[in-house]
Amino acid sequence: MEKDRKVSNGQGRKGISRRGFIQLVGAGALATTVVGDLGKPLPAAAAEVAEKGEMVHVSLQVNGRRHRFKVEPRWSLLDVLREKLGLTGPKLGCGRGECGACTVLIDGRPRYACLTLVLEAEGKAITTIEGLLKGDELSPVQKAFWDNDAMQCGYCTPGQIMAAEGLLRVNPNPSIEEIRLGMSGNLCRCGSYAHIFKAVEQAAKLRRTI
Ligand code: FES
Ligand code: FES
Repeated sequence: MEKDRKVSNGQGRKGISRRGFIQLVGAGALATTVVGDLGKPLPAAAAEVAEKGEMVHVSLQVNGRRHRFKVEPRWSLLDVLREKLGLTGPKLGCGRGECGACTVLIDGRPRYACLTLVLEAEGKAITTIEGLLKGDELSPVQKAFWDNDAMQCGYCTPGQIMAAEGLLRVNPNPSIEEIRLGMSGNLCRCGSYAHIFKAVEQAAKLRRTI
């Protein structure tokens, strides 16, 4: 795993290692970037249910379809996506917000599904990598990862693609430094970073042509 991947804030402060960046901004601040308001404490009602450990109903909108389940309030969104819906694109890597293998979009922004309680995701639009396909047609980001051979074992790839999708939705024309920073929440133990960054550059171009 490449621990000292160089990142920059895109304003000329180049040459900071990933470890140095985390020390600089604090691990909590980096996690906040990724989990955003989903990191807030549960609403009082949900917290009360969680204490009792009861099964509760939850309604989720995933890849444009609505689903209702009974869940234990302690279950993560990743548990439900994989075990209840059979959406195995999001992967369980570290299970604690460090690797990004579980990345999905929640209301269009990349989030760690392993750190998101399923109750927190209710009422939000969830997109997994399965939701990027149009029929059998790959999305621009998926196609760019394929074209650039941006994977080896492939375990991190769904999370990388969802992080790239989220980045390009807010920044359709990122610089290479912005790509490196935007993708810094997703680790690749095979070290395919050079190919991943090239893929994101190509995906940005592809998205601008459609
Ligand atoms: S499995 Fe979620 S961040 Fe690693
Ligand atoms: S972890 Fe193997 S391709 Fe990224």
